[in-house]
Amino acid sequence: MKNGEAVGGGGGGSSISPLVSFLLGAAMAIVCILFVVSASPGRRLADISAWSNATATAEDTPQEVAAASNITAAPSPVQAPAPVSAYGDLEEVLRRAAMKDRTVIMTQINAAWTKPGSLLDLFLESFRTGEGGVARLLDHLVIVSMDPAAYEGCQAVHRHCYFLRTTGVDYRSEKMFMSKDYLEMMWGRNKFQQTVLQLGYNFLFTDVDVMWFRDPFRHISMGADMAISTDVFMGDPYSLGNFPNGGFLFVRSSNKTVELYRSWQQGRWRFFGKHEQDVFNLIKHEQAARLQLTIQFLDTTYISGFCQLSKDLDKICTLHANCCVGLAAKLHDLRSVLDVWTNYTAAPPEDRRAGKFHWNLPGICIH
Ligand SMILES: *[C@@H]1O[C@H](CO)[C@@H](O)[C@H](O)[C@H]1NC(C)=O
Ligand SMILES: *[C@@H]1O[C@H](CO)[C@@H](O)[C@H](O)[C@H]1NC(C)=O
Ligand SMILES: *[C@@H]1O[C@H](CO)[C@@H](O)[C@H](O)[C@H]1NC(C)=O
Ligand SMILES: *[C@@H]1O[C@H](CO)[C@@H](O)[C@H](O)[C@H]1NC(C)=O
Repeated sequence: MKNGEAVGGGGGGSSISPLVSFLLGAAMAIVCILFVVSASPGRRLADISAWSNATATAEDTPQEVAAASNITAAPSPVQAPAPVSAYGDLEEVLRRAAMKDRTVIMTQINAAWTKPGSLLDLFLESFRTGEGGVARLLDHLVIVSMDPAAYEGCQAVHRHCYFLRTTGVDYRSEKMFMSKDYLEMMWGRNKFQQTVLQLGYNFLFTDVDVMWFRDPFRHISMGADMAISTDVFMGDPYSLGNFPNGGFLFVRSSNKTVELYRSWQQGRWRFFGKHEQDVFNLIKHEQAARLQLTIQFLDTTYISGFCQLSKDLDKICTLHANCCVGLAAKLHDLRSVLDVWTNYTAAPPEDRRAGKFHWNLPGICIH
């Protein structure tokens, strides 16, 4: 089974084991074929809907069951039913949002970041005021919500929203860096990324405090298994000596990268109490060698952040409010950044070339 344990293992609530459920599905398929052969067209739909009821698990919502029966009601009823996973409609959301090459852009939000005028608004505004068609990338953005309020907030402003149901953590509020909930949240995010890879999608994960001014994909190498932003770029994009920042991360789906994520998750217990970024630093050498991974570290001239600020507005693609603690400080500085950017994009080319535009420095974090 392609989905592996990430999809099957998250459920917990289902009493039907994958094997039993597979056999049941196969048996029902045979029954179904017999019905299709013998039944009149009018009866066919009801029988197929009974089939999808049999394969559904206790935690399925009515919509999921309905969606599954729509799939089985397709012209070729012999095909297997879509697996109804613990991740709900994730596959459907990914399919709708993906580019032709199965790449999606993903960000993750909680309620504290969705209030009007908060980070999500600034994030979306940056796409809309961006250049070179970056606004079109919004069609490929999946916003992953961590709580019901964030999901509602997403649906009010965006087409591709996904509600990631998680247990044990209250995601609604801002998380203190390195608190228990913070660690749980970051590792949950890591596991979720692994699931997306296992479903066969490449992703570009972006924190919601990253402003998108221009299309960053042109700076991601075709040969990279993984491309990650850096707090400080050391000059060589393929040197493991760079200090990565997972707040902007592209990963190409392959067996190698899925395997990397497995080791990364195991690192959580090997290096207990560390967050995923630290663990990545601890395992990057051994894993890159073991899996023959090409890891590209992104130049801060283009994929920038407050840690190492790109002052060239003609080149910058994205700007991350990293090296900056606290929601209010991020909001303040990113607002100022967007205001400068808006003036820059409205200016005639000769004014731009003359270098008349600069970030307002220093802000609270930006300097
Ligand atoms: C399938 O389940 C739905 C709701 O769970 C129910 O309304 C419907 O009658 C069931 N269909 C059959 C054929 O049992
Ligand atoms: C099922 O199909 C019907 C008609 O094609 C459509 O109106 C309905 O929205 C679909 N339901 C789901 C859950 O996709
Ligand atoms: C992983 O490898 C198997 C067989 O080697 C292949 O069928 C499958 O498509 C690969 N998966 C990915 C995501 O590349
Ligand atoms: C943008 O341009 C206007 C008009 O020139 C100016 O008043 C304003 O201060 C500029 N804003 C920033 C953030 O530079």
